[in-house]
Amino acid sequence: MKQKEIFKKSEGDAWFRRNQAVLAERDWSRDPICLQVAELVETGKTAKVLEIGCGDGSRLTHLRDRLNCEVAGIDPSSEAISVATSKGLSANVGTADSLPYAGGVFDIVIFGFCLYLCDDNDLFRIACEADRVLSENGWLLLLDFEAKAPTYRSYHHREGIRSRKMDYKQMFLWHPAYTLSGYRKFHHETLQWTDERDEWVSLSCMRKSIRT
Ligand SMILES: C[S@@+](CC[C@H](N)C(=O)[O-])C[C@H]1O[C@@H](n2cnc3c(N)ncnc32)[C@H](O)[C@@H]1O
Repeated sequence: MKQKEIFKKSEGDAWFRRNQAVLAERDWSRDPICLQVAELVETGKTAKVLEIGCGDGSRLTHLRDRLNCEVAGIDPSSEAISVATSKGLSANVGTADSLPYAGGVFDIVIFGFCLYLCDDNDLFRIACEADRVLSENGWLLLLDFEAKAPTYRSYHHREGIRSRKMDYKQMFLWHPAYTLSGYRKFHHETLQWTDERDEWVSLSCMRKSIRT
């Protein structure tokens, strides 16, 4: 069974139940993605933001309430999405390879620790879908586990799933429309620099600009 099917069937809800309390407690004002969005949004303007793999929309709630963003989210967990919609968020049950949105509607598209769980053979489609819904002159933000070459680990919460570390920004940077405008590696938990390479996560901020 594909991993996305396992997430839709049970692991999305299971992940959410295991992490619901942590998500509620997290200080989202220190979140690397929220800090990056704060730098990108222009004063007085409302940015349209999509988070793919949004869980219960905790990050999106911060972006809506603190940064005045117009937000939407998608996640395979129906339990997490029903919590997100109960907070008044626009959120859909679904997966990254098939986004139920019109083309070019988002100013910012976010993947926060989502791609490491997606199936290898969905990655082209996922890149294509993110690019499709991102506006011209939009920003793509990726926060995920990082390794130079793809490395896999079995996921200890559920048989049949493996997680993957790789350099996810390369899914987009081969394309002439995408430019890396910001990039930082740091420790998953401390959010500070670490020399321990196995602990690296990275935040990549990419600008899409179509050349005419
Ligand atoms: C580690 S959690 C991260 C949640 C949130 N983005 C954050 O940063 O706190 C991974 C999320 O990705 C979702 N997910 C797993 N596979 C997915 C897929 N193929 N497409 C979209 N989301 C997926 C899971 O249900 C889960 O909510």
